[in-house]
Amino acid sequence: MKLVVIPGDGIGKEVVPAAVRVLRAVLPDLEVIEAEAGWETFQALGTSVPERTLEAVRSAGAALFGAVQSPAHRVAGYRSAILTLRTALDLYANVRPVKALPLPGARQDVDLIIVRENTEGLYVGEEQGNQERAEAVRRITRAASERIGMLAARFARQRLTIVHKANVLPLTDGLFRDAVRTTIRTIRPDVDVEEMLVDVAAYHLARTPERFDVIVAPNLYGDILSDLAAVWCGGLGLAPSINLGKGVAVAEPVHGSAPDIAGKGIANPIAAVLSGALLCRYVWYLPKAAVAIEEGVRRALQAGAATPDLGGTLTTEEMVEAVLAHIRPVPEGLPDRKKGNPRDGENNS
Ligand code: NAI
Ligand code: MG
Repeated sequence: MKLVVIPGDGIGKEVVPAAVRVLRAVLPDLEVIEAEAGWETFQALGTSVPERTLEAVRSAGAALFGAVQSPAHRVAGYRSAILTLRTALDLYANVRPVKALPLPGARQDVDLIIVRENTEGLYVGEEQGNQERAEAVRRITRAASERIGMLAARFARQRLTIVHKANVLPLTDGLFRDAVRTTIRTIRPDVDVEEMLVDVAAYHLARTPERFDVIVAPNLYGDILSDLAAVWCGGLGLAPSINLGKGVAVAEPVHGSAPDIAGKGIANPIAAVLSGALLCRYVWYLPKAAVAIEEGVRRALQAGAATPDLGGTLTTEEMVEAVLAHIRPVPEGLPDRKKGNPRDGENNS
């Protein structure tokens, strides 16, 4: 197994090495290739994602990305590294599982996945205008909607919720909703399909998150709803995600570069560590390795291990040590399960 690691900027440089240590503990044969991307890379090389980074990820098929810092103002020639990676590698789905961890702030009954369309919608980056008037393109295609519907269907256990705003945007969101619904109905007649306006979905996610199983949404709605949902796993420092494409995947913690704590060695590495577990489960089809990592995290948290964002005093390093101390050996004879629901084999204890 090969993994390209792209620490990026800020706390990405602290949490990615931490996650790699945990991955190596369960996968001793893992081959790790270092690559660069981000704001610092842009300042040094004039591009936020060098071609050799893209080549490395294409060839390895899997990457772990930390976070990048993006300037709040427009900088000529700069495009966010993660958006560039998503487009260049056609990482068409952003998958964010939200599962409660044993923490006071978490909702113990929550176990949902947000599947967000990652290549179009409002994020095509086609903006024009001036100080008086500006416009942005919001593109929806049948092909991209069908393919995200197909992926979401694979993750569903009992229910799929299609999020849209077709009452206001009947052409774009209407197309998304209809294409996704038809696709899901065709390949998963066994699951419940419901539709929900994005504002109503936000209300239900805040109030009754346990009612959701898989949520599928266009780019912007999925982005916003998944940060909201991250509250229920226990906080931003704990929320993992993975970008999936055809034969290529980039896992990344949901959080950003956290300039307010960068360099202090106190960033919570759990979001990055759990993103590594998602690579094991969804990309390498090693559910036992994924469970070993996730259970190690659970047990460490249960034992009271906590970085400052969780009200504790542990450093990033000490948190990793706590997780490593709670990881049990992965049983021999790892299954190679490329079929079925990617969530099969999750430990629901
Ligand atoms: P952020 O996620 O970096 O930080 C938000 C707050 O959460 C901060 O107070 C931070 O200290 C805290 N936090 C985040 N991750 C943490 C962790 N692992 N442990 C402990 N505390 C943690 O979001 P913010 O501040 O809005 O953005 C900072 C920079 O990151 C910006 O340049 C933004 O563009 C970029 N960003 C990059 C993302 C990516 O690379 N995918 C995603 C979100 C933001
Ligand atoms: Mg976001």
